[in-house]
Amino acid sequence: MIYLDHNATTPIDPRVLEAMLPYLKSFYGNASGLYRLGRLSRSAIDTARHQVAELVGATASQVIFTSGGTEANNLALASLEPQAGLAVSAIEHPSILEPAERLRQQGHPLSLIDVDQNGLICQEALDAIIRTQKTTAVSIMLANNETGVIQDIARLTEQLRAHGIALHTDAVQAAGKIPVDFNSLGVRLMSLSSHKLYGPKGAGALIFEKGARLSPLLLGGGQEQGYRAGTENVAAIVGFGKAAELAKSELAQRGEYLAGLKTQLEDGLRSIPGLSIFAEDAPRLPNTVQFGLPNSDGEMLLMRLDQQGVAVSSGSACASGGKEPSHVLTAMGIAPALAQSTLRISLGTTNTPDQITQFIEQLKILVCQEG
Ligand SMILES: Cc1ncc(COP(=O)(O)O)c(C=O)c1O
Repeated sequence: MIYLDHNATTPIDPRVLEAMLPYLKSFYGNASGLYRLGRLSRSAIDTARHQVAELVGATASQVIFTSGGTEANNLALASLEPQAGLAVSAIEHPSILEPAERLRQQGHPLSLIDVDQNGLICQEALDAIIRTQKTTAVSIMLANNETGVIQDIARLTEQLRAHGIALHTDAVQAAGKIPVDFNSLGVRLMSLSSHKLYGPKGAGALIFEKGARLSPLLLGGGQEQGYRAGTENVAAIVGFGKAAELAKSELAQRGEYLAGLKTQLEDGLRSIPGLSIFAEDAPRLPNTVQFGLPNSDGEMLLMRLDQQGVAVSSGSACASGGKEPSHVLTAMGIAPALAQSTLRISLGTTNTPDQITQFIEQLKILVCQEG
């Protein structure tokens, strides 16, 4: 199989699995237990907390483990206290858009921040948010899961902070693919997810600025500084920690390798007549390419590729299956017909140049058959 959907999820790195196994087999103690078995789990969680903190240049006490990126995003929005109003970018993941909509229904004014045709935040839209003085909290993702477009969060935070507006960034797709430094970004809160960086599913984290207070979603235990009750998923947290450690130490090497594959992929794609790569001129993740093929059906291509043993996405994983054009592409002003004819390729460290060659060949055959 040729797996080209790493933004949906990544396989577990064998070294991560190795680190997790003892906590699934033998060290099953509740981390709140005061006896040795409990203390072993506690200490493993502490190590993982340091590893995750180091990946993003934070300290261990700033890390709250969650069940994943979705929970971290929900916790972030609950914690931003948007009494006077919340603004989120139009291209956020549903785990931001839906809790934001709920906050709106509960009476907190909500604005959507527009992006330009390259998927970058419109400066005028941000200026308007600041000018109207109706917003106290903003959420803008660091890198988009569909297009891979990277926002200049440090610059945006500088502008927002000057007006007392707090920012959360969803760094789920960025962490492990590009350098992410919590302090340089200047945000109050940041979300991470383990299974996007070769760790297990079911673990994530919210990183918070020192002194910030969170509004827990889960109550009933003092775990995670009282911000996230529930017996810890020790093996998953250990796996997340190991994955974060590896992502940090191998970041440059992975980035270089993926960028090489991406160049090969894009050169191949450009040889297909009519194909357009979205946000081609914007800064993008080294592993993500989303493109449109006029007069093709993205879902159909996805299924045909699947029959050939190639796994790709026709948009974000959560959106595929639905027939609505992607909200990200719609926000970028891509016409609905072209937005329905898209595929997203997200590369991973185990992909090879040979796999890219095979994928391009298969895609060309399918496009010819369609045409
Ligand atoms: C940008 C972004 N944020 C959040 C999430 C949710 O993360 P998780 O799957 O860990 O809940 C995803 C997953 O696709 C994502 O791409």
